[in-house]
Amino acid sequence: MKTRICGTGSALPKRVVSNEDLSKIMDTSDEWIKSRTGIAARHLATDETLAGLSAAAALQALEEAGICAKDLDMILAGTISADNILPSLACELQRELGAVHAVAFDINAACAGFLFALQTADAYIRSGQYRNILVVGGEILSKLMDWNDRSTCVLFGDGAGAAVVCPDENCGILSSVQGSDGAKGGVLSCCGRKNNNPYVKNSIKLPFVSMDGQEVYKFAVRTVPKAITDTVEKAGLAISDIDLFLIHQANIRIIESVSKRLKAPMEKFPTNLAFCGNISAGSVPILLDDVNRRGLLHKGDKIVLAGFGAGLTWGASVLVW
Ligand code: ACO
Repeated sequence: MKTRICGTGSALPKRVVSNEDLSKIMDTSDEWIKSRTGIAARHLATDETLAGLSAAAALQALEEAGICAKDLDMILAGTISADNILPSLACELQRELGAVHAVAFDINAACAGFLFALQTADAYIRSGQYRNILVVGGEILSKLMDWNDRSTCVLFGDGAGAAVVCPDENCGILSSVQGSDGAKGGVLSCCGRKNNNPYVKNSIKLPFVSMDGQEVYKFAVRTVPKAITDTVEKAGLAISDIDLFLIHQANIRIIESVSKRLKAPMEKFPTNLAFCGNISAGSVPILLDDVNRRGLLHKGDKIVLAGFGAGLTWGASVLVW
């Protein structure tokens, strides 16, 4: 039994912010951002919530899958920026959708969050415990940015993507790998609320994302090609058998380096980071929905999905569409 993606969806906030727009509020330029990252614009949430964006993406995925919310057995949400600490994004989504029979919880694996949620769904489906699972990856990262730190805030965007997965005899996930390296967690982090109980002396500071960009770059270009190679081999395939590589949209230079190291042409690596920026757990499912809706996925195509990010965490899966 395999786990097949039967429907996809995505939603982006309506406000588009270009590099030019950012250069009016901070010391940066379109040239700096584009040449180092490939990003030209991003969508930033103003009045949208992550639950609302995720529900919009989920409804599209449910429609394509041909099932309704009440048919869902499980909702898994990969995110680091849920609207609230409690309840989880997955539970809020359950409420918004009326998915009354689903069990729902979040997975925090940063930019690998959608991959980890998809691989968790795959394990539940192959075990026979659940059949219809909604997997969501989404972020409103703009609230976790220090808008005085031009080296991080220009990189990220907001949005959500969704996939409905179901059991299938023939098509679906062939193999997966995942990994974590908590010892290197400091290179990309965002501290939580400080303890402020009456027995702790504390100066409360707002938590923001901080990053050692060059270390993250080195981690990504080393780890992602290996994870992809390992999962492709595990599936009994060669890199040349893969039709499309949908990898986390952090930075065009990372994607080009992965393409080079795998000796796979850039035409097999669709991107959307030019107009979305880096949406962490949202990036892979939004890209998946984009290529699906553009008719770039054909029955029988072999596709790699790969995510990597804070933790450090990484995951890759090969599937037959
Ligand atoms: N506009 C203009 N100048 C800037 C900006 C900006 N937005 N940000 C930083 N600079 C300046 C710095 O102040 C520095 O100036 P200085 O030389 O006078 O001190 C100069 O540009 C170079 O700064 P670096 O941080 O060294 O820039 P670098 O060339 O390393 O590029 C980048 C930064 C793009 C983040 C790069 O390290 C990278 O590609 N890292 C990969 C990690 C990544 O993409 N992370 C995304 C999120 S993580 C994830 O999704 C897993």
